[in-house]
Amino acid sequence: MNNDIEKVLYTQEQIDQRIDELAATLSAKYHDEFPVIVPVMTGAMMFASELMKRLNFKLNIDYVDVSSYEDSSESSGKVRLLRDLSHDVSGRPVLMIEDIIDTGHTLEFLNKLFASRGAKSVEICSLLDKPERREAPVKIDYLGFTVPNEFIVGYGLDYNGLYRNLPYVGVLKRSVYEK
Ligand code: IMP
Ligand code: MG
Repeated sequence: MNNDIEKVLYTQEQIDQRIDELAATLSAKYHDEFPVIVPVMTGAMMFASELMKRLNFKLNIDYVDVSSYEDSSESSGKVRLLRDLSHDVSGRPVLMIEDIIDTGHTLEFLNKLFASRGAKSVEICSLLDKPERREAPVKIDYLGFTVPNEFIVGYGLDYNGLYRNLPYVGVLKRSVYEK
């Protein structure tokens, strides 16, 4: 599996340290807010669990599952909700957790959805941002790292369902998906 990685962008230690910083910022902001935390499955799972363990305030954990990539490395631009929330977010602050913001379509869709349900606020915390590919405007309120316009895997991010369990963030070799 590691042979398919071109280079490591962020090590587990670097990610851990950044998550500590993000958790401190979020704990200051949300300590009296009782938010609903909404990781976007499956990619955000690893980041969300590491982050939430460090959040020192009352919260509810929910999740959504969406699909935009149909087994390829290019976004289709269409977002489909595969699993909806089980919490009513009306009047509640919502904090979405993402692995990476690429075109922005996924987060724009979810942002509008939760706003239309009367959420008190909707904020986004993403481990990674790939700004060069943005098509839809998305404000990232809390960000781990900015990454280049390459195909990224690891720490929850996949290619065709693989590499999510890598404990670091890396660039996938082109030879893996260009064949
Ligand atoms: P967006 O809707 O284009 O912003 O895409 C968001 C979703 O696409 C993320 O939640 C990821 O699951 C997936 N994605 C975007 N870029 C990458 C990448 O470089 N590697 C793996 N997944 C990606
Ligand atoms: Mg995703």
